[in-house]
Amino acid sequence: MNTQPIGFIDSGVGGLTVVKEALRQLPNENIVFLGDQARLPYGPRPAAQVRAFTWQMVNFLLTKKIKLLVIACNTATAAALDDLRTKLTIPVIGVIQPGSRAALRHTHTGHIGVIATEGTVRSCAYAHTIQAKDPQVKVTSLAAPKFVAVVESNEAHSAVAKKVVAQTLRPLTHTDIDTLVMGCTHYPLLRPLIQNVMGEGVTLIDSGAETVSDVSMLLDYFDLANTSGHAATRTYYTTAGAALFETIASEWLNQPITATHVDITQ
Ligand code: SIN
Repeated sequence: MNTQPIGFIDSGVGGLTVVKEALRQLPNENIVFLGDQARLPYGPRPAAQVRAFTWQMVNFLLTKKIKLLVIACNTATAAALDDLRTKLTIPVIGVIQPGSRAALRHTHTGHIGVIATEGTVRSCAYAHTIQAKDPQVKVTSLAAPKFVAVVESNEAHSAVAKKVVAQTLRPLTHTDIDTLVMGCTHYPLLRPLIQNVMGEGVTLIDSGAETVSDVSMLLDYFDLANTSGHAATRTYYTTAGAALFETIASEWLNQPITATHVDITQ
């Protein structure tokens, strides 16, 4: 039994898609979330820089005495998971392995699509992870960099969002892809639009949501679950202004959210 919080990091509000699932699956757990909105998007940045920014986020969360770290960002997972796992003494979970496993479970055609940021696509992390388990499976990856800006500017329900999603996904339509990994934690906020373009025959994989099932299993395995019975605490930090974060988070999580600005560069 352990009452310390679980830490979640992301470049922005996308990681809240993972938190939302954690609130559902792990309601007893204390949660600390940090979004590095001041420096997003991470997608176009070199991997070394993403790794450095990720360490700054992690060092901040370590001051909150987290018992387990969730890298709720695909770009950061691709760039920093191995390094963090080597150097930290707490369990570290990324979003790419759980998302890849779920995609393999769902595909019948053996052709999986992955949409992600440029950084994640460049890393080939999904293709490597999926094909390490099944080399027969074909993986087609597509960068969808505009999706992050649409979500972060709170335009997920706009006509602009609809147009951007339709235009970006066009190369993947009329293929035999039957499973599409939303390989960026921001993308589930555009899920209805993505599903509409890809059609009902394509299963969308929310890698963040899949990750929480792994977290739940690890909490049990390491005897880290919070069984204290006290009301759980949720604390949200952003490196940018709190107002926009609070608007998007309150709507997405369906409850009033208060966030605190923090500078993690010092
Ligand atoms: C980004 O900051 O570009 C998106 C992060 C992600 O890959 O989830």
